[in-house]
Amino acid sequence: MSPWFSQDVGIDLGTERTRIATPEEVLLEEATLAVLAYEDDVPRIVASGAEAEAMLGRVPEGLEVVRPLQRGVVAYYEITEALLRYLLRKAGVASWLFRPRVMVTVPHGATSVEQRAVYEAVLRAGAREAYLIPTPLAAAIGGDLPIHTPAGSTVVCIGAGTTQAAVMAMYGVVGAETLRKGGADLNEAIIQYVRKKYGVVLGHSTAETVKRKIGSALPPEEEQSIEVQGQHQVTGLPRPVTLVTSEIVEAIHDVLKEMAGAIQRVMEKSPPELVSDIIDRGIALCGGTALLRGLDRFLTKELGVPVYVMDNPLQAAALGAARAVALYPRIKRHLPRVM
Ligand SMILES: Nc1ncnc2c1ncn2[C@@H]1O[C@H](COP(=O)(O)OP(=O)(O)O)[C@@H](O)[C@H]1O
Ligand SMILES: [Mg+2]
Repeated sequence: MSPWFSQDVGIDLGTERTRIATPEEVLLEEATLAVLAYEDDVPRIVASGAEAEAMLGRVPEGLEVVRPLQRGVVAYYEITEALLRYLLRKAGVASWLFRPRVMVTVPHGATSVEQRAVYEAVLRAGAREAYLIPTPLAAAIGGDLPIHTPAGSTVVCIGAGTTQAAVMAMYGVVGAETLRKGGADLNEAIIQYVRKKYGVVLGHSTAETVKRKIGSALPPEEEQSIEVQGQHQVTGLPRPVTLVTSEIVEAIHDVLKEMAGAIQRVMEKSPPELVSDIIDRGIALCGGTALLRGLDRFLTKELGVPVYVMDNPLQAAALGAARAVALYPRIKRHLPRVM
């Protein structure tokens, strides 16, 4: 990219990961994370993004790890702004001289206060103009779904903190639902399950490893196992525990059911013509949790509609947000307006 040219930029601002893209490519993906130090009770950011992530679980006393976004919405305003400024500069798309036009994702159904917080943070972080777009709409554009047509397309983005489902047609959202549950709740369910069954407490990153390595939404054809270290619930001493896939299937089942329920509600709210489009075209999955083994088949079974994972499930929302900047005149009446 020429430094003399200010580009259109998309930001997929997630609970766990933030991605920054141009219409052509994702430039950067980092943890939505900051580490703070306190001097005389005044907080100062000492590490952001990937640097902060590298410190996770190893933070010395006096420092605090903060997730500025919770369940997809801004929880710590100043930290969000500082993190975005840092990431926009690191991606090379904003500087003291160049200020891009930025389209940033927000969950459908975020309140006007929540929307304004993102909007202001993006502007103050170095954007010349800022626009908001519902995450599933951005992902549909980034995934090249035919949402310019009157036929309905359905996208479900499942990140760490949210499940965002939407039916779209002619660039507009016809029906949508945001469930404030996601992949982090699957980890939490695994932790609860292991504590109840074995009296062993797993750390969050251990639960994440278990989910990725042996986790599945459906009973496995072949059982896989993993040995991990936890802490004995009573003595606090280290205790290894061996887990198998079918245990994880059982542990996360109820949370997955809730996700399916949210998608079902969107379908129920859609007019019958669109429901028949959904059945014809299927439902596209995106977001990190789309990578959970068997989730597409689980949802296909639950909903009775074909569900498939997008080609670029992690990048679609950021790319689509960037591409939506040029589409703005055509889609603006469908975008959340900050008041
Ligand atoms: N291979 C995988 N299997 C299951 N879950 C995954 C996998 N890879 C990532 N995830 C989950 O995806 C979630 C992050 O989703 P992502 O869309 O990248 O971030 P955000 O929540 O910030 O939007 C996390 O909960 C993570 O555990
Ligand atoms: Mg995401």
